Amino acid sequence: MTPGGKRVVMVAAVARNGVIGDGPDIPWRLPGEQRLFKGLTWGHTLVMGRTTFESIGRPLPGRTTIVLTRSPDWTAEGVLVARDLEGALALADGLDGEVMVAGGGQVYAVALPVADEQVISEVDLEPAGDAFYPDFDRTEWVETSREHHDGYDRVTYSRRRAAEL
Ligand SMILES: NC(=O)c1ccc[n+]([C@@H]2O[C@H](COP(=O)([O-])OP(=O)(O)OC[C@H]3O[C@@H](n4cnc5c(N)ncnc54)[C@H](OP(=O)(O)O)[C@@H]3O)[C@@H](O)[C@H]2O)c1
Repeated sequence: MTPGGKRVVMVAAVARNGVIGDGPDIPWRLPGEQRLFKGLTWGHTLVMGRTTFESIGRPLPGRTTIVLTRSPDWTAEGVLVARDLEGALALADGLDGEVMVAGGGQVYAVALPVADEQVISEVDLEPAGDAFYPDFDRTEWVETSREHHDGYDRVTYSRRRAAEL
């Protein structure tokens, strides 16, 4: 949750070995999965790391982008900038929709403890890579949906409330 009570949703495509990226790239091409990402995130606020933003190279349309960077001078046209996760979440409270954490590895790791939901495309590959999705304790999450697609499963995990644990 954000300080203002908005849901925080992690959105990622993760290979069987946890790989999410290789250098600046994502080491697979799944156009249908990208369309699902667009549909899920449209109208919401994206939070992403500076590296991921620079690998995309532009703000994604139809969404407000908050870029996390520790660099005090970093700016880019069409995006908001936050210096830490707390700043990004406070900023997102004043913006449209839910908070969708869009990577990469560093940002997923820092945001996971405050996330309410994870929407993960579990990609049926084991590619080489150097960016990983963080491990998470499966007992703290419940699988609330699973859809099979060609090459990946789209799975939603919701955080168990304290009363359920
Ligand atoms: N498969 C997927 O779903 C998916 C999604 C997104 C990205 N990716 C992949 O992930 C890879 C990039 O991930 P990455 O881990 O290398 O980088 P990243 O998380 O995208 O960005 C890292 C940068 O974000 C800033 N940052 C991170 N944590 C911060 C914090 N707590 N406070 C302030 N700033 C913070 C820092 O920027 P400064 O250095 O400027 O301070 C840091 O260098 C790429 O390969 C990309 O293609 C995959």
